[in-house]
Amino acid sequence: MRKKIVAGNWKMNTIKDEGVVLASGIASKLNDVPSDVTLMVAPPFTHIYNVSEALKGTAVEVGAQNCADHKSGAYTGEVSIDMLKSVGCSFVILGHSERREYYGENSDSLNLKTDLAFESGFSVIFCVGEKLSDREDGKHFDVVGEQIKSVLYNMKPEFSGKLIIAYEPVWAIGTGKTATSSQAQEMHAFIRKTMAGKFGKDAENIPILYGGSCKPSNAAELFAQPDIDGGLIGGAALKADDFIAIAKSFK
Ligand code: 13P
Repeated sequence: MRKKIVAGNWKMNTIKDEGVVLASGIASKLNDVPSDVTLMVAPPFTHIYNVSEALKGTAVEVGAQNCADHKSGAYTGEVSIDMLKSVGCSFVILGHSERREYYGENSDSLNLKTDLAFESGFSVIFCVGEKLSDREDGKHFDVVGEQIKSVLYNMKPEFSGKLIIAYEPVWAIGTGKTATSSQAQEMHAFIRKTMAGKFGKDAENIPILYGGSCKPSNAAELFAQPDIDGGLIGGAALKADDFIAIAKSFK
């Protein structure tokens, strides 16, 4: 049985006090969430500590939206994996399309970051997804296959239990335009097959989340697909009620 996961990527939203209110709101509604669903939240760096304090004693995992590609040293403005661990993080989101698009994230830096994260005991939510033009050109499988092979094929198989993949078609992020459940399922099955090409049967156990305008009204249909194991949620993760409603959408 693969884990069912709903993860909130808060992106560059909330200041500290708002983040704590959101986390406390989530904590107060956890009784509504089935016990086999894992909840994860990734606040901005500045209030990861406060959010992890607000969620202390709950099973909600706290993580970061990025990390440095070096362990420590003279890298002004960067945040290391050890720093993240010291404020309560157990996972990191890597390869988000916004980081690839606006901050030059590429397979070189992602190889370094995934290595550092896994070696430090972190789970990694590794994001992949094609742009609209890739899909229109019929290149979406090639693009996603390459994003996977150029980084995840280099990871040590022993860490596959710590890997979560998120398929986020760029054209569906923050646009209100969701992939249909069959488009998403088709890509998730392709991702799993691609992972099986390197990791064999272990690929069966890797959770693959869908991300891109996932909300309470469409989560159930997406999560009912055989290869969709949950969601990586942006906008709808900023309201505790919506986030919890999505977490209740598994059959
Ligand atoms: P939205 O849910 O706001 O479309 O964002 C998805 C996303 O990018 C999560 O990482």
